Parts: sequence; structure tokens; C-alpha cells
Amino acid sequence: RKDVLGLEEMDVEEIRQILQTAKVMKGILMRPIKKLPTLKGKSVVNLFYEASTRTRTSFEMAAKVLGADTTSIAVAQSSVSKGESLYDTAKTIQAMRADLVILRHSSSGSASFLADILDAGVINAGDGQHEHPTQALLDIFTMEEKLGDLEGKNVVIVGDVLHSRVARSNVWGLRKLGVNVTLVGPPTLAPAEMGGLGVKLTHDLDSVLPGADVVMALRLQLERQKSGLFPSLREYSHLYGLTSERLKKTGKQSVVMHPGPMNRGVEISDEVADSAQALIERQVTNGVAIRMALIYLLIGGSANVVA
Ligand code: CP
Repeated sequence: RKDVLGLEEMDVEEIRQILQTAKVMKGILMRPIKKLPTLKGKSVVNLFYEASTRTRTSFEMAAKVLGADTTSIAVAQSSVSKGESLYDTAKTIQAMRADLVILRHSSSGSASFLADILDAGVINAGDGQHEHPTQALLDIFTMEEKLGDLEGKNVVIVGDVLHSRVARSNVWGLRKLGVNVTLVGPPTLAPAEMGGLGVKLTHDLDSVLPGADVVMALRLQLERQKSGLFPSLREYSHLYGLTSERLKKTGKQSVVMHPGPMNRGVEISDEVADSAQALIERQVTNGVAIRMALIYLLIGGSANVVA
């Protein structure tokens, strides 16, 4: 495969191969000295049209650990600000002989568009409301690390499902691994048609918490809600915010996850976010391992990971 565009198009064997490779990569990442020459001479370009802390930095770190050269294009200071199109920007990067382009863009389908026109590999780092495959892979890796085989496990994803590429990628990946997924949110943010993804959909969080192995809170994407938020932040927090009290309803020590960045006090209380139940920082660490695995699998060729 040349590109990673989404989990919808990925089969279960490939997901397993990525998770297995990420396990090796995490071993390398946790070493005191973690620089390898594996991808020496390869170049990775980060092209982010939307803000990012975790994804952009972890791709950069992942490439560096493997010995590749990385360049991050600051879109606001680039010729994009003079009106240059994604097509011409991408062709320009290709002319500099990049091996891999990591794209984040507000338009669904932009990563696929780029993959079609470039000889270089493309990894989708989030395209509009469509997919965020590397986030879902790191989420699945983190769940497996904590819970073992995920088949038959119950994962509740709560929040702004409508705008969430994280939710969509997780649904595709988790369903392929035999996980029972429930999407929860207010009717405005979790419309009935999203139940068509082969998952349970409800507006009542408290009713689906009993038996949940994982509860994942999504960020309220206020920047994508053009007509204002309904319900209000206060109502939302009351009905859907993860608090210690509410999590007792799971009846077990469920794993709590959040892709970040968090709106503390809205989707998740400080107490929960900072508790041992929450794997939010572990998700970030695992994000580097997953991205190392993907970069290696796409442009590593026959290079051995130096153990
Ligand atoms: N989870 C995630 O995509 O975070 P960033 O926007 O900081 O990359």
C-alpha cells in the first residue's frame, strides 16, 4: 500500500499488522536512547491546514526516531496564504522529492485527492468529518494494551459524533475487530442516520454505561458548529459530561479515553481526566508508536528495524 487514507478501506489483517508493528515500535520508543538509522535518507513532510498539537508533533517525532528527515510546512506562512491550491502545493512538495506527505485538511476526501496525484505516499492525519485513521489505530492499540483481545468488548463513544472523524474511524476499526460500539450524544450531535454505521445509537448516556469496558469522550467541536451549540454547554455537561459519579454506573473500572484536546469541565471533569482510569496520556505515547509503524510500513521498504 502507498497510502493510509482511512480504516473503512483497511482489512482486519492489515489493522493487525499495524498494531503488531506498533508494539515493536513502542519498545524502541521507551528506550532511553531511541534514535535509529532505519529510514536514513527518507523525507517526511507534514502539511497541516488545520491546527494540531498531538498528531503533527507525534508524526514528526515518529519520523525522527526512525532516522527520517522531517519538514513541517507552516501553512499560514506558506504560499497557501497567497491562494496556492492544494494540488499545486502538493506538486511542489513532490518536486522536492518527499517520500511521504502527512495531510490534515478541513475537506473530507482531501487525503484521497492528494494520494491520487502524488507518487509519494500520503497519510491522512484528519480530513474534515471523514476519517482520522491514525487516531483510531492508536485508540485501538491503547484499548488492546489495557484489555487484551477486544472481540465482544463494549465501547461507548460519547459526544459530538456528528462532526467527529475520530468517531467514524473508530467505528470502522472497532467493528472490524468484533467490538460492540455504542454512539451517544444529543440528537443535534448524534443524528439517527449515524446508527447506519452498524452501531447502536442513543441519546441517553446513563442507560448504556452499565457494562461498558471503554468510555471515550469526544471533543465538542465548537469551531464546526456554525449555528451555535444546542444544547448549551451547561446542559451538555449535565447530560453527557464524564464525572466520577456517572462512571460508577458502568459497574466496573472502565477505561476512559479522550482523543484530545479536552474541554475540561464540559466533556470530562478534571477528576476523571486526571484519574488512573483515564488513559489519555498513554494514548498520546501510543500515537508516536502507531505513527512510527505506519511510516515504517509505508516507506521502510526492505529496511529492518534495528533492534
Ligand atoms: N487528537 C488529535 O487529533 O489531536 P490534535 O488536533 O492535537 O492533533
